[in-house]
Amino acid sequence: MLVDDNLTNLTMGKNMLKSFYEVYPLTSGKKLFEMLENVTPDLILLDIEMPEMNGYDVIKALKSDEHFREIPVIFLTAKSGDDNELEGLCLGAIDYVQKPFSAPLLLKRIENHLLITEQKRELKNYNDNLEELVNLKTSQIMELQVAVMGTVAEMVEFRDHSTGGHVDRTIKYLEILVDGLLDERIYSDELKGLDLRFLILSAQLHDVGKIAISDTILKKPGRLTAEEFEEMKTHTTIGAEAIARIGEHTAGHSFLHHAKIIAHTHHEKWDGTGYPLGLKGAEIPLEGRLMAIADVYDALISMRPYKPPLSADDAARIVKEGRGVHFDPLLVDIFEKLSGKFAKVSGEIYRPAPETAAAINAAVESPSVSGAWRQPQPAIRRRVPAFFGGTCAG
Ligand SMILES: [Fe+2]
Repeated sequence: MLVDDNLTNLTMGKNMLKSFYEVYPLTSGKKLFEMLENVTPDLILLDIEMPEMNGYDVIKALKSDEHFREIPVIFLTAKSGDDNELEGLCLGAIDYVQKPFSAPLLLKRIENHLLITEQKRELKNYNDNLEELVNLKTSQIMELQVAVMGTVAEMVEFRDHSTGGHVDRTIKYLEILVDGLLDERIYSDELKGLDLRFLILSAQLHDVGKIAISDTILKKPGRLTAEEFEEMKTHTTIGAEAIARIGEHTAGHSFLHHAKIIAHTHHEKWDGTGYPLGLKGAEIPLEGRLMAIADVYDALISMRPYKPPLSADDAARIVKEGRGVHFDPLLVDIFEKLSGKFAKVSGEIYRPAPETAAAINAAVESPSVSGAWRQPQPAIRRRVPAFFGGTCAG
């Protein structure tokens, strides 16, 4: 577009350019903006000295509008002097050409500026596509990582076969608690600094350290001795160390960061009598305090070799009794409000009945029984959150 209030200049300019470009001659800034409603030009040649709206006013209006600010502007003017040229360039013009101008020179400058603009556009498209590609690849890597970690968590769960569905349920419990905290605006500052998607998902690795615990302890059909309990306690530090080692090989990720904290601290107690560190109150990371409630609630409603499953009501009562002793008081307050959701999850995600659990235990101990039962139960499906774009069998 060519904008000049002088008709002679407009005619001359149009004649000079029309063999090479489609030219829109316009006599004022007002007419330019009317034309921009319908046409987006590759370039604007703009006179400075015009009545009503001068060239500086026009370029200021163009640059302040997101629809027009990328259109390159060249000032064409009889005004001379470094100050005028500097002002024009500072306002966002890409060039400043003094009248009278040489036609071949102006044409060459226009050609160069259009080429630069096109290259900038191509570079932007390339960067946009590159960003999209990187996001896609990152998402695929994360999906793979989560799937691998989920499989590891299931291997632990299948070994500790009395806890069917434990991993899936604890992820859901954690999600319910985190949603409750967000709704009630409790621990907002702490939550702000955490990657909640990965915090919830990383809960599946909380007992990964049980891989290193002997079968005689893990499957013992009765209470553990003090010595056995000491060995069982090490699943927290072993799990945290194993996750830390993975982190060393993967440049770290918030998923592994949260997983390590949860594995390490999910058996700490609010009153300082937990393990492995004996942390007290807010010394225990929020991830560990959240997981403690999810883990204990699920242990209570589940069949274990040494105890029958409790009802959801009894499990909720015991969690409430642990307020300020075993558990963070504020988190128990949230749990109380949401215990109905916990009960729903405990009923929906696979939990073997006492007789089924006993049968599984017997089958595992029998060398003649095939490993078919180790296949994931149809009811156990680990849902990968929507941001990973899919599901993987649990
Ligand atoms: Fe544990």
